[in-house]
Amino acid sequence: MTQPDVYLLGRAEAEEMRLKRQIANLAPDSDAQFEKIGIKQGERVVDLGCGPGGVLHLLGKRVGPTGSVLGIERSAHFVELARHFVADHGLTQVEVREGDAYDTGMPRASFDGAHMRLVLVNVPKPELIVREMVSLVRPGGWVASFEADFLAHICDPPLPEWTRLVDAYTAYSAAQGIDLFVGRRTHRLFREAGVVDIRVDAVVHVYPPGHDRRTILRDFINNVADKLVDGGFIKRRELETDLAMLELYLSRPDALVTSHMFFRLCGRVPG
Ligand SMILES: C[S@@+](CC[C@H](N)C(=O)[O-])C[C@H]1O[C@@H](n2cnc3c(N)ncnc32)[C@H](O)[C@@H]1O
Repeated sequence: MTQPDVYLLGRAEAEEMRLKRQIANLAPDSDAQFEKIGIKQGERVVDLGCGPGGVLHLLGKRVGPTGSVLGIERSAHFVELARHFVADHGLTQVEVREGDAYDTGMPRASFDGAHMRLVLVNVPKPELIVREMVSLVRPGGWVASFEADFLAHICDPPLPEWTRLVDAYTAYSAAQGIDLFVGRRTHRLFREAGVVDIRVDAVVHVYPPGHDRRTILRDFINNVADKLVDGGFIKRRELETDLAMLELYLSRPDALVTSHMFFRLCGRVPG
């Protein structure tokens, strides 16, 4: 069953640019996770919701020219961008296909490993995607998840406008059935899908002035500003004032800003 397109963050060009920057920003955290898993040359791996590139280059490097990586992505536009991305990296072992992570249509138990980063925080039924992902992996193979939780979305000194914007965004997401705090639940979702030997750790970053992830709250809010107002989650005037205050705040050198807590999970399919 194909799900309707509910990509929480919209399809604006700004979001596309943000996802492209994210490839480099999160690469060290993802690569450290892949190192721990011990992905081997020659493995056949799938990445669900790969976006415009995600970790395809990191996985491609680890499986080497004798392995293969399949990226599955729902947005046709992102598929096109991801294909350019892998071509630019000269990765002939990486293929990108348009598809739905809820129902990939891929043969069961046909991969050595499966990975997914920051997809569950954008979808209303994460448990179904996790189940589909696990079913793609052969007995004894590995699964890996890198997922966000808004727990760590904080700033100091406190800024009431920050809190109001986060609250509006959380309420908007919840109204679409999306759990912004899904990161902490991923261990449970994978256990319930039959995964064993689960290991989890978490990473949080503080973003100083000038760092391109320091503005992530502003970027998220801008992506969905009209929807927040149209849905009654915040008044237009409040939104504009809050964003202006946030902009000023982000330029302050004495303001501490974080974004998500990222939960990194790996585990094994029994067998
Ligand atoms: C926040 S982006 C993360 C992209 C990439 N994994 C990364 O970490 O850079 C979420 C991606 O999941 C994709 N997505 C959301 N729901 C999907 C689904 N049901 N099937 C396939 N892709 C999906 C979106 O189109 C988007 O590209």
